[in-house]
Amino acid sequence: MAHTSLLLALSLITISLALLSQGSQAQLSSTFYSTSCSNVSAIVRSVVQQAQSSDPRIYASLTRLFFHDCFVDGCDGSLLLDDSATIQSEKDATPNKNSARGFDVVDNIKTAVENACPGIVSCADILAITAEASVNLAGGPSWTVLLGRRDSTTANQAGANNLPSPFDSLSTLESKFSAVGLDDTDLATLSGAHTFGRAQCRFFSNRLYNFSGTGSPDPSLNPSYLTTLQQNCPQGGDGTVLNNLDPTTPNTFDNNYYTNLQNNRGLLQSDQELLSTSGASTASTVNSYAGSQSTFFQNFAQSMINMGNITPLTGSSGEIRSNCRKSKFFLPRDDKIEAWVLKSVSRKWKDYKHELKSKYKTANRTQEEIASDVPPEIMPQQWIDLVRNWFSERSENLSRIGRASRANHTTPHTTGSKSFARKRNEFGRDGDYLFRIVHNPNLRFLTRYIPNPIPSLYVSAIMDTNVIPNEIPIGLVQMGEKKVKEQNQCCVERCDEETSSRSNAMIRRKKIRQQRILKESEVADLLRDYSTDLLRDYSKKANLKVLLN
Ligand code: HEM
Repeated sequence: MAHTSLLLALSLITISLALLSQGSQAQLSSTFYSTSCSNVSAIVRSVVQQAQSSDPRIYASLTRLFFHDCFVDGCDGSLLLDDSATIQSEKDATPNKNSARGFDVVDNIKTAVENACPGIVSCADILAITAEASVNLAGGPSWTVLLGRRDSTTANQAGANNLPSPFDSLSTLESKFSAVGLDDTDLATLSGAHTFGRAQCRFFSNRLYNFSGTGSPDPSLNPSYLTTLQQNCPQGGDGTVLNNLDPTTPNTFDNNYYTNLQNNRGLLQSDQELLSTSGASTASTVNSYAGSQSTFFQNFAQSMINMGNITPLTGSSGEIRSNCRKSKFFLPRDDKIEAWVLKSVSRKWKDYKHELKSKYKTANRTQEEIASDVPPEIMPQQWIDLVRNWFSERSENLSRIGRASRANHTTPHTTGSKSFARKRNEFGRDGDYLFRIVHNPNLRFLTRYIPNPIPSLYVSAIMDTNVIPNEIPIGLVQMGEKKVKEQNQCCVERCDEETSSRSNAMIRRKKIRQQRILKESEVADLLRDYSTDLLRDYSKKANLKVLLN
């Protein structure tokens, strides 16, 4: 039974959290920033262009960032998050580490955009606009970028480790593209981005010496191209040496990538396979683009739009980061915070069970009737167990005792159903003082003056401490370092002005109230957006806690 309830608890909370974390799926739109940040595209383009003057490769590098962002849980800027206490960055995944580049330019773009329209444009959209500007500035097509994406609060390193690899077979590449809703034409078209930029020897040197364990080079490599590559990437040499992905026009966005493939001059295995794999469905696309740059350009624009549509966060999902490298909201793992999260999730869980019971267990319904009315989000067997539990003798007894006990109260009791021990634990060391006053028979009179329920500020006033129960620890959710600094600074100034007329304790309390950035209820709303490992982790523990209570 305990096992079944544990499963029930885990699945219910997972379902409810999953439901809570679903955002609205609004459509992206070309006019998303037309009133809030009308010249965002021009700002982005100008910073990108400026960056190219000192880094001829940057157009290619920035274009690649959009691909690596979109393929991991959608275009949500997750690639841009730095490693931190709570984030295992995608930047550190194998396909990106010492490979993906241009992050400092994205920072410059973000700064320029924030200066013009603070807090409006997501990092995910910045990557989309940046990719279009880069392709176009390098001589490629232009297209209308659809916008309105929001930024993730988490990264997915494991997802990034599964990005398409240059060593993948054509069928694996096809299935990785199809997994994100892109077809073989998108695969052949988007690979055309290898018309500019560089690749390190380590990503293809297996083709030069020992292809697929044959002890010989890849037979699909043009012999003179093979010699050139062998010179640039000697066996056992430095794997980080750079090579042009398009040996003919390395920095220009054109259709030469496809003519190269026809000449067996595709640099990566994943490139040449598009044409050389026997029966490849992508071969006809390659040949058609080799013959017509305009067809390639037209289709490339469409495929970039398709890629940009991969599961964006929209509406109220995610956030708009002010710094692309970190989420505004972070939950550092420490005991205080873990305790708060556990408490918060445990309360939600309790409320959810209460909601279910009051909705389904009405006076005139039998156990069988309720058991057969399975809520859509609950597994039938688990529902049956839960309903059986409601009707069990133990549960009925507990309800009866609780009702009788509540009816016997002559003075309002402020702690609800919590035990004294639990309440004392919650109040902490300082709370003990309050606890002793309130529950000291000689000081009973005091309780009459305490409104019901005890407002937390009132409690803290009696205690003369800085601990304000039921409010979250300061700094749990920080709105970016700058804002915190500003708030603290202005608090210090205000507090100084007031020193003459107020006691130190009052000033301290006021300072704390001002420093507190979000209330628990607000954070609870934010937590809904966290369908992450972190919260799942906590919620599992919370379940155990609930069950043990
Ligand atoms: C089809 C699957 C793909 C594979 C296996 C692949 C693989 C690679 C690899 C191994 C590199 C070299 C990285 C390095 O040496 O550090 C590279 C570079 C690049 N990729 Fe891809 N790629 C693929 C698709 C794409 C797509 C869809 C785009 C964009 C639409 C893209 C854009 C680029 C660009 C522009 C570069 C050069 C980057 C630079 O110079 O910094 N790739 N790709």
